[in-house]
Amino acid sequence: MRILVTGAAGFIGSAYVRHVLHEHAADRVLGLDLLTYAGNMANLAEVRDDPRFGFVQGDIADAGLVGQVATDVDAIVNFAAETHVDRSLLDPEAFAKANVIGVMTLLEAARTNGLRMLQVSTDEVYGHVPSGDAANEHYPLRPRSPYSAAKAGGELMCQAHGTSYETDVVITRGANTIGPRQYPEKLVPLFVTNALQDLSLPVYGDGRQVRNWMHVEDHAAAVDLVLRHGASGEAYNVGADNERENLDVVHAILERLDKPRSLIRHVADRPGHDRRYGLDTTRLREELGWAPHRDWLQTLNDTVDWYVANPDWWQSIREHDPRFQDYYERQYGQRLAGV
Ligand SMILES: NC(=O)c1ccc[n+]([C@@H]2O[C@H](COP(=O)([O-])OP(=O)(O)OC[C@H]3O[C@@H](n4cnc5c(N)ncnc54)[C@H](O)[C@@H]3O)[C@@H](O)[C@H]2O)c1
Repeated sequence: MRILVTGAAGFIGSAYVRHVLHEHAADRVLGLDLLTYAGNMANLAEVRDDPRFGFVQGDIADAGLVGQVATDVDAIVNFAAETHVDRSLLDPEAFAKANVIGVMTLLEAARTNGLRMLQVSTDEVYGHVPSGDAANEHYPLRPRSPYSAAKAGGELMCQAHGTSYETDVVITRGANTIGPRQYPEKLVPLFVTNALQDLSLPVYGDGRQVRNWMHVEDHAAAVDLVLRHGASGEAYNVGADNERENLDVVHAILERLDKPRSLIRHVADRPGHDRRYGLDTTRLREELGWAPHRDWLQTLNDTVDWYVANPDWWQSIREHDPRFQDYYERQYGQRLAGV
């Protein structure tokens, strides 16, 4: 199979590229990525010289470019997106462009060329799920942040394309993902790299928000399974059933790094912060036979250990990229000052 992987230089997209080239010797991958602040060619270092891999820098919302690259593939897997909830509160328009218009542009290319398209979505489209409840794929979509609303918009565009034009689309709704190479604005890599520098860990509110965690390689394997075996027009929840309160995750990070809990600083909460995500993954497990390969502690420790072993990767972002520094100051400067 020849696969166009968009967002290939990002965290999960690059893990997916490695997964495909490792697991499917006859496959070819063409990566497409705009290389925003979150895109990083270092994430593709392991595959750059593989003759089965090619790369194009560009925007998924650029219909001319997408039309060209889509003529030479059998399927599109779309990881490309603006992905950080906090940034979506600062600049919602960028999220609508990438996560809705970009998806629509890819769908047009899938339709014109008769391709299967897999849209990588998120469990955040369900919004807050009350304690004791678990969202299956028929649960109502109630997104509450500009990020999750734009991701839900992208999904609805996929479903409309399937209905209106019989475009072959499948959707995955993944849980919170951690592992090597995640941009250090997200909770786990931010706190690991802050702790490594003995900086405060700014925990939003009481830190009792509940998330469902999985390893990036398990997420990548699930996306690949759905691409090859998922039923057209259907969505599949993806999660490893590791529900944890954020504060417990922070404690586990500090324990692994042997750093004191006194680094924790409770700061003003994110507006509209979803309290809990709860996911029912029965469909993926029973219909497609998926199971994660790592339990919670392996998932967390593998992640923490990678940042310890790869300071060049995260220091080049944190210490040398003003886009990270500007964002960090804007997001946490006043919060940490107690304003
Ligand atoms: N990280 C998670 O916990 C998680 C969980 C569930 C679903 N997802 C979804 O998985 C996908 C990948 O997430 P990630 O964590 O790897 O994100 P990321 O921010 O690490 O990577 C996103 C990539 O997309 C690229 N990109 C952004 N806008 C683009 C555009 N207009 N055209 C082309 N490329 C563009 C960026 O350069 C970057 O390489 C996203 O769709 C996200 O919504 C993420």
